[in-house]
Amino acid sequence: MKIRVMGDNVLRQKATEIQTFDEKLKNLSKEMIDLMHNSEGIGLAAPQEGLTIRMLVTDISPVEKGYSEMAFVNPVILETWGESILEEGCLSIPGIREEVERPEEILIKYQTIDGEEKTEKFSGWMARVLQHEVDHLEGVLFVDYLSPVKQKLVMNQYSNA
Ligand code: CO
Repeated sequence: MKIRVMGDNVLRQKATEIQTFDEKLKNLSKEMIDLMHNSEGIGLAAPQEGLTIRMLVTDISPVEKGYSEMAFVNPVILETWGESILEEGCLSIPGIREEVERPEEILIKYQTIDGEEKTEKFSGWMARVLQHEVDHLEGVLFVDYLSPVKQKLVMNQYSNA
């Protein structure tokens, strides 16, 4: 498994809802967590592995204490509050890091890898990563939020990707 890089159309597709919670899905989440850890990322969405399904994994332990790896299936952000500016990067856009403004706190509904439904509030880095990864499921990349001038610089860097 390798991470798809910007310029790959799969990163611009809308991912489909997951209906089946089986061993295959569990194995896939483990594989995604391994790939995220090996790539030193704090989040990874299935489309980055070329799979257009609504699953993402996070592990923000390198930047915030009290968290470890988590898998989110069919996540939906229900509500947001506040705003914060943090520097983001993306395993699919290596070499680019830019400040992005997003809501500070979110209420998110999702299913666990076993299909259990949960609704939780997150703030700080967890809220940030989840918003970034949920965007991936819609075909949105963090560079889409940059100014047109900065977007052009990024595009030039990836035009041959
Ligand atoms: Co990303």
